[in-house]
Amino acid sequence: MTDNYGREITYMRMSVTELCDLRCRYCMPENGICKKAPELMLTVEEMACAVRAAASLGIRKIRITGGEPLVNKNIVEICRNAASVPGIEEVCITTNGIKLPKLAQPLKEAGVKRVNISLDTLNAEKYAYMTRRGTLSQAEEGLRAALLAGFKKIKINTVLIGGFNDDEIRSLAELTMRYPVDIRFIELMPMYDSGDFGPEAFISNERVLEELPEAEKVPCDGSVARLYRLPGAMGNIGLISPVSAHFCAECNRIRLTADGKLKPCLHSSDEISIKGLDEEGMRGQMIRAIHAKPEWHGALDCNNRSKAGRNMNQIGG
Ligand code: GTP
Ligand code: 5AD
Ligand code: SF4
Repeated sequence: MTDNYGREITYMRMSVTELCDLRCRYCMPENGICKKAPELMLTVEEMACAVRAAASLGIRKIRITGGEPLVNKNIVEICRNAASVPGIEEVCITTNGIKLPKLAQPLKEAGVKRVNISLDTLNAEKYAYMTRRGTLSQAEEGLRAALLAGFKKIKINTVLIGGFNDDEIRSLAELTMRYPVDIRFIELMPMYDSGDFGPEAFISNERVLEELPEAEKVPCDGSVARLYRLPGAMGNIGLISPVSAHFCAECNRIRLTADGKLKPCLHSSDEISIKGLDEEGMRGQMIRAIHAKPEWHGALDCNNRSKAGRNMNQIGG
């Protein structure tokens, strides 16, 4: 289906939980969040129904997000259901990787095509600091488990934070020399209540190119990242720049939160509920949500915070 600005909407990001086993400073408050009553959250059947409704409107790609999607105990079934819907060509997951050693193989067998793994630093102390509870070795084991399970085109997501990991750009980028993976540097987005980051933390992705003058531009793969490659590398370096160069004109997505709200835009407080509806009802709400997509999200920088009204863990990024 096409929205009011001529953008074809083919991608739904579906959050399957607000909870997480980590507490990344840019995403979640230290003490976590209040767990909502189960009856407020979408059931496994409602999620499957939402994917069918979305597919009937031309959605071809589902990305499962969270919170941390792998803490949902039904994650394998949710993925299997989504992958079996006619018209859905790709089910992908964005995860912190901590639970991949157990789940990578079952997820592959359930039909998940690709995984993106969040990793902001290669320094164990900094990893523990930023995530407030994870260890770097857990995340590295998760990456290895995903490779071992045979996932292709794995992407590592690194949120670039001035004063935290801008001194590691080269070593992170060189992961593409050691593993057949892409790494994407993502500009820090100023969410509603996500950490105490001062202006120095919000740096442009241009910094990555300054650090890696030998990186060569390669053609885009249809994602929101601009792509580069180090000579001899097995994967690409992607720059996702939602702050310095928003990509709203190419936006092809809608979002569904774990509590059943369609979000036409990541940075808008507009929400349309599908909780408790049947497939036809959900379809109608999805049409409304697609028509409600704004042309762009408005100014976004450290002085103009996101108007999402939720933190990332409650949206799924
Ligand atoms: P691919 O399917 O591999 O291209 O993944 P993806 O980039 O669509 O998804 P992923 O979950 O890996 O997201 C990477 C980063 O892009 C995260 O920081 C998201 O918050 C951010 N992101 C994804 N979609 C949007 C969007 O529509 N707007 C903005 N501003 N950021 C987004
Ligand atoms: N800015 C940019 N990216 C973020 N993510 C979470 N919060 C933010 C933020 N404030 C990223 C995570 C994960 C993806 C879903 O979104 O690191 O890779
Ligand atoms: Fe959890 Fe991902 Fe948020 Fe970190 S960024 S707290 S891993 S949901």
